Amino acid sequence: MLPEQRTALDDIIGKIRAGRLTRRGFLERAAAIGLASSAAVSLLEACGGNSNSSGGNGAAKNIVWTSEQDPSNTYKALVDDFNKTIGQQKGIHVTWQQGPAKTDDLLTQYTNMLRARSSSTDVLSIDIVFPAQFAASQWTTPISDSQWPSSERQNYLPGPIQGCTYQGKLWAAPLRTDLGLLYYRKDLVSKVPATWDDLAKSAAAVSPSKVKYGYVWQGDQYEGLVCDFSEVLYGYGGSILDSNDPTKVTVNSPEAKQALAQMVSWVGTISPAAVTTYQEEPSRNVWQNGDAAFMRNWPYAYGLGNDPKESKIANKFDITALPYGGSNTVGHSAIGGWNLAINAFSKNPDAVWEFIHYMLQNDAQKRIAIDGSRTSTLQSIYTDSDVLAKQPLFGKLGPILKNALPRPVSPKYSDVSDAIQRNVYQALKKQVSVDAALSNLEADLKKAVAAS
Ligand code: GLC
Repeated sequence: MLPEQRTALDDIIGKIRAGRLTRRGFLERAAAIGLASSAAVSLLEACGGNSNSSGGNGAAKNIVWTSEQDPSNTYKALVDDFNKTIGQQKGIHVTWQQGPAKTDDLLTQYTNMLRARSSSTDVLSIDIVFPAQFAASQWTTPISDSQWPSSERQNYLPGPIQGCTYQGKLWAAPLRTDLGLLYYRKDLVSKVPATWDDLAKSAAAVSPSKVKYGYVWQGDQYEGLVCDFSEVLYGYGGSILDSNDPTKVTVNSPEAKQALAQMVSWVGTISPAAVTTYQEEPSRNVWQNGDAAFMRNWPYAYGLGNDPKESKIANKFDITALPYGGSNTVGHSAIGGWNLAINAFSKNPDAVWEFIHYMLQNDAQKRIAIDGSRTSTLQSIYTDSDVLAKQPLFGKLGPILKNALPRPVSPKYSDVSDAIQRNVYQALKKQVSVDAALSNLEADLKKAVAAS
């Protein structure tokens, strides 16, 4: 969205909240600004919505948490425990709501709510790429040193804490990190691929003769594609923005050409043509049904894949680092992860912090690791013998974590991401050539970065 559109939107939001604009007038002006009608309607609802006083168990402070999607239901179980223990003692009740599958959709939901200065969700789950953007809009209340002293903070992974820091303040607390992994079937793959070319060869050797598809990943036009593209690109030694000067766009490089050409070559060959509609969950479903030799996904798919109640390939697979290519000798995961933040418009910020603090403690972090096979931010979890015994994944993550790299960091991340998603997707769909996609991406990124 352009700055003038944002200003126009803020103006009509202010007017509708002040009762100076009718519902119809709001929708007409939102359409004129270029907002899709579904987005305008949900924004309108958010302008009137505030669930702070409803729901819950009659406790004095009812707060709502809409999280990122959690297929393992670990978050729900943790919320139930909080309500029965600390919540009971302190008069706080948390209502948990399952969020949408795409991080982009959760962002839209939150953006509509926050533009309307609403707190229909008090506890925000913020993807690691968004704290700066939320902070720049003052949508979350910073976590102070007295709330979370450095003696506690130092026990958490520094990367996620850094990702939540903007202009010297901590705008969210790191709940969990994430990193892209290569999953492979031990019964089908004899040699673990080191390079992207090895992967393509190995996948082609077993599919479709022994397994329906060679490789499944996230090729839909959404944030997941930014992660998958970054990983192949970083694996070839390329970059998106200059890490020392994020106003410099470096994406149109020979390394990026190799990386994008590699991805385009998978679609309809080792990967189903429908991979361009896949997010994490569709890839996991194909994989767990035993229909792919390789999958790129996050650690959460490890626990679910090993659950015989829902997976046909329990104990038949393992994980390794993502491959590399060109003259590079090491692969790189994109760093993902989710953070908890206090909605700046919440009526109960202290209760929100109480709950966030509970989610950062050893017990909650351990359950996130064991029950959800999700990578905690509390460092001691990685050497906890119970965790290592129940989720052997954790014993393999050290070098992968070490080589993981962030997506570009920007307070205008949505615009950066949108440019990557659109142009990479067009290449995958063969609507434009690899060269054209990269030069269009370069131009779009220059605009996005210049506006920052
Ligand atoms: C995972 C990651 C998040 C990323 C998203 C993309 O949820 O934790 O950082 O943006 O996947 O789909």
